[in-house]
Amino acid sequence: ARLVVLVSGSGTNLQALIDAAADGAYGASIVAVGADREGIEGLARAEREGIPSFVVKLSGHPTRAAWDTALRDAIAVHRPDLVVSAGFMKILGHEVLAAFPVVNTHPALLPSFPGAHAVAEAIAYGVRVTGCTVHLVDAGVDTGPVIAQEAVTVEDGDDESTLHERIKTVERRLLVEVVGRMARDGWSVTGRRVRLGGDPL
Ligand code: GRF
Repeated sequence: ARLVVLVSGSGTNLQALIDAAADGAYGASIVAVGADREGIEGLARAEREGIPSFVVKLSGHPTRAAWDTALRDAIAVHRPDLVVSAGFMKILGHEVLAAFPVVNTHPALLPSFPGAHAVAEAIAYGVRVTGCTVHLVDAGVDTGPVIAQEAVTVEDGDDESTLHERIKTVERRLLVEVVGRMARDGWSVTGRRVRLGGDPL
C-alpha cells in the first residue's frame, strides 16, 4: 500500500513508520511526506530517507478552502492508498477528506481531551490513566471512528513532556501496528465501527 504521511513537528511517528516499512513484509511504503510548515525535523527525516516531501502552508493561500484544495492536490500526485496524519497540527478540510482515507494518531483516549493540548489537559485534569488513540479522520476535531487505543498510566511527578514522551512510545507502536494491518489485511468502516481485515489496500 502507498502511504502519504503528514507531519508538523519532530516526526517520531513518521520515523517509526519509515523503520517498519523498511521490511518489505510490512506491506506499505511511504511514497511522500507532507507538512504545513518548513524547517521541521519531520521533513529532515524524509530527506534523510530519500522520501519526496511537500509543504503546503496555510499562509500561502487566500482562504482555508484554497489551502485544503492545494493540500489535496499535493497529496493526490502521490496516489496514496492511505494518508497518515502523524502529528499534523491542522484540521483537514473536506476536499482532502473526500479524496483519501486518513488515519490520525492522538495522544489521549478519545473522546477525552480532543484537540492540540491533549497531554497538558490530562495533566491539568489529574487523570490517573490516559493513553493514545488511532482513528479515522472525519470533519470534526479528533471525532472520527476509533480504530485502536492503548492506556498509559500517569505517574506521580509527571509533567506534560514526561507524560507525552511515555505516550509517544506507545503511540508509535500502535500506529505502526494499525497502519500495517490496514495495508496488509484491508479494512472497512460501518458507522463508527472500523473492522480490520477484508481486502488488502
Ligand atoms: C504525537 O503525540 C501526536 O499524536 C501529536 O503530536 C505528537 C507528534 O509527535 N499530535 P511526532 O511529530 O510524531 O514526534
